[in-house]
Amino acid sequence: MRTLIKNGTVINADATSRADVLVDGEQIALIGQELDLGADRTIDASGKWLIPGAIDVHTHMELPFGGTFAKDTFESGTRAAAFGGTTTIIDFAVQPRGGSLREGLEAWHRKADGNACVDYGFHMIISDVRDDVLDEMDGLVDEGVTSFKLFTAYPGVFFSDDGAIFRAMQRSARNGGLIMMHAENGLAIDVVAGQEVAAGHTDPYYHGTSRSPVLEGEATNRVIRLAEVAGAPVYIVHLSARQALDEVRRARDAGLPAFAETCPQYLFLSLEDMGNGFEGAKFVCSPPLRPADHAEELWKGLVRDDLQVVSTDHCPFDFHGQKDLGRDDFRKVPNGLPGVENRVDLLHDGGVVRGRFSPNRWVELISSAPARLFGLPRKGVIGVGADADIVVYDPARRHTISASTHHMDVDYSCYEGREVTGGADVVLSRGTVVVEGGEWRGSKGAGRFLRRERSANLH
Ligand code: URP
Ligand code: ZN
Ligand code: ZN
Repeated sequence: MRTLIKNGTVINADATSRADVLVDGEQIALIGQELDLGADRTIDASGKWLIPGAIDVHTHMELPFGGTFAKDTFESGTRAAAFGGTTTIIDFAVQPRGGSLREGLEAWHRKADGNACVDYGFHMIISDVRDDVLDEMDGLVDEGVTSFKLFTAYPGVFFSDDGAIFRAMQRSARNGGLIMMHAENGLAIDVVAGQEVAAGHTDPYYHGTSRSPVLEGEATNRVIRLAEVAGAPVYIVHLSARQALDEVRRARDAGLPAFAETCPQYLFLSLEDMGNGFEGAKFVCSPPLRPADHAEELWKGLVRDDLQVVSTDHCPFDFHGQKDLGRDDFRKVPNGLPGVENRVDLLHDGGVVRGRFSPNRWVELISSAPARLFGLPRKGVIGVGADADIVVYDPARRHTISASTHHMDVDYSCYEGREVTGGADVVLSRGTVVVEGGEWRGSKGAGRFLRRERSANLH
């Protein structure tokens, strides 16, 4: 199957050009001016941009959390991702406490294999660092699961102490894996949260106020220092607070291999969104939404490359039937927000349309940097030989985000009623059109597991 995409503007992270793109099978075969070649199908992209399919390196399909499961399956979640221009996700497999990494990985393969609609990889959450688990890390890196998430948050669930984190970092320094850190001081946060509930402050708003941004800054500094001594690179996930950004900036200025992502919720939403009684449960995630002034600093961080990636931390729970498990106690609200479908358009609207950064930087943040940092050399670029994950993007299309029209399997949207400019018209996943004119053309199970390489250029 040969598809010729004519008259588009190719936006890569490093260059923009007017070109035609020939897709042959699953790959990009040729890029050139006014290509006049036989093809099974021609797509006219006049007035449109061609961008590499976006990569979301932080999703949680079917994650067990807070006594329930994140609602999107690999099928529904990856389909929704594709509608929004995302053609690759990296999801977090979870080591069961007391169990092995292998058990967790196999469980995630059972959820994803034969179900995902676009390509996917896995990180591994380590919730129980033991000698045998450290040994297992080497094997996982060799088979393409090259990154590991540990937590200074959620005591009793995913929490690891500093010694455990340090040991995992030492191991990754040897085997080339990348340690990803959820950096909040969970022990101190749990004290404050308990005091709030004892004082009768049970609304979701207090989830936000009990998780001080200072305790995100403290934990971020701590894990960066642990990584420095271990001689390992470190990647901070879902960074939300100015104090944490300052620590990443300081480390990078000193030449340390410290990296970080933020998420749309921290750029577009704020603590105020949590203040409307139990409605605030729709916005309960960790780290929490911050007072609005943090967001402007995060935008600057994206411009200056203090932050390298925007992911979603997509972890959807219905408002009715899931979030309301915490109606009487904010600590019982399952943590997480939906967003896998909205990231590309939100970042285009808030970043490019608002003049904060160029279309190329947008592509870098949503696709090229994720590919480089997470070992996906055939993704994140429109180039000859790359996978034909291509989005024909209309930079002028205005639309309104709503739960009534989104494709994520969740009963609300965090961005309900927000108008954005920019949208995916046609989406190709390895050469196959999966979305066109708002219609689904893909198929369940077409997504492939990606054996990732070790991260590139971290030192
Ligand atoms: O609230 C969140 N972020 N839920 C997902 C789990 C995590 O910590 O990433
Ligand atoms: Zn986390
Ligand atoms: Zn997460």
